[in-house]
Amino acid sequence: MAAEGPGAAASQDGDILHVGLDLGTSQTSIETSTDIRRTVTSVVGWPKDLISYKFLQKQVVIGDECLEHRMAVDMIWPMEHGVFRARPEGEPSGEDDREAEAIEHLVSYVIELSEANPNQEIRAVIGCPARATPEDRQALIDAVSGLVSHAMVASEPFLVAYGLDLFNNALIIDIGAGTLDLCRMHGTIPGEEDQQTLIKAGNYVDSRFHMLLQEKVQDSPITLEMARKIKEKYAFVSSNKEVIAVDFQVDGKPKTYDVTDELREACESVLPDMISSAKELIVSFDSEFQNELRQNIVLAGGGSQIRGLGEEVRSNLTEFGPCRVSTAEDPIYAGAHGALRLATDMPESEWRRHAISK
Ligand SMILES: Nc1ncnc2c1ncn2[C@@H]1O[C@H](COP(=O)(O)OP(=O)(O)OP(=O)(O)O)[C@@H](O)[C@H]1O
Ligand SMILES: [Mg+2]
Repeated sequence: MAAEGPGAAASQDGDILHVGLDLGTSQTSIETSTDIRRTVTSVVGWPKDLISYKFLQKQVVIGDECLEHRMAVDMIWPMEHGVFRARPEGEPSGEDDREAEAIEHLVSYVIELSEANPNQEIRAVIGCPARATPEDRQALIDAVSGLVSHAMVASEPFLVAYGLDLFNNALIIDIGAGTLDLCRMHGTIPGEEDQQTLIKAGNYVDSRFHMLLQEKVQDSPITLEMARKIKEKYAFVSSNKEVIAVDFQVDGKPKTYDVTDELREACESVLPDMISSAKELIVSFDSEFQNELRQNIVLAGGGSQIRGLGEEVRSNLTEFGPCRVSTAEDPIYAGAHGALRLATDMPESEWRRHAISK
């Protein structure tokens, strides 16, 4: 990549559209070199029957529209496992085929949002979890082939770092729905030893909180969706004396419950693994630069909005010396933004290696 230096590809004529794509478990975001930014909920649905079809007037519904009509559609969250699922031997292929089809619908819907001209060549950088396998990466390329002319896959936390100009001595912690990815930067493309992927992330917090809520609020049915909404409104970690009081419908009337302890416990459930992975990445770093690394810890992804998280991470890492933890300003677009920047910076010679063979 170094040969022509950054910006060489920027001599593009108007026929090339660069896009950064973050195919997340819960949200898919795209940012384009024409300044378009869009986010779509990563869910795809098919009308359940003839009535649903008559009512929706569509073969497939995508994103929030799908959630709005959840009673009328069979829904799939195709990125639910953080990456594409390899089918265990012997398992019938039906479910997987549906998942693959859902991914295709989602990806083509998002690429359409980039408003490319018909003659424009689309070059995409796509984010994937830090420790995605070569098969996962290839599956992502396959999903966009036919829609773009060139595609490259890079790890999500690396893309976040790239978008924030954090090229050296920085540790990125991207807290998504399906995975929590850590990546340390040291002035070059990070290798396997620089990255970790944990599967306890936002979805794990949701199911934990859901379980605790059901135990507490036994006189009102609680859905996972309700638990997630409450989490997204109030999520916190810390020993602050705040009280989270939420109303639930009991016998048609609102009844207030204190869910502070349940929410704290659920949010804190991702901390131990996250802290121990961060420690591992710090202590195995070149000792001369560990100090600087600790000063550059950045939280990103939707989960970075948990209140008090930065302070909690900082205080758990101070045993090695002073730390500074910040939160990416725009956690939702940080991945897509970094992907777009990498796409526009990549020289022509590098892009040639990522042409999709027709
Ligand atoms: N205010 C908030 N507080 C805590 N968590 C939040 C908040 N807002 C969103 N989240 C959570 O952030 C997660 C979504 O973040 P993000 O969009 O970064 O994930 P993703 O990219 O779709 O997932 P992944 O990177 O694992 O594929 C969800 O679990 C969501 O519930
Ligand atoms: Mg993500």
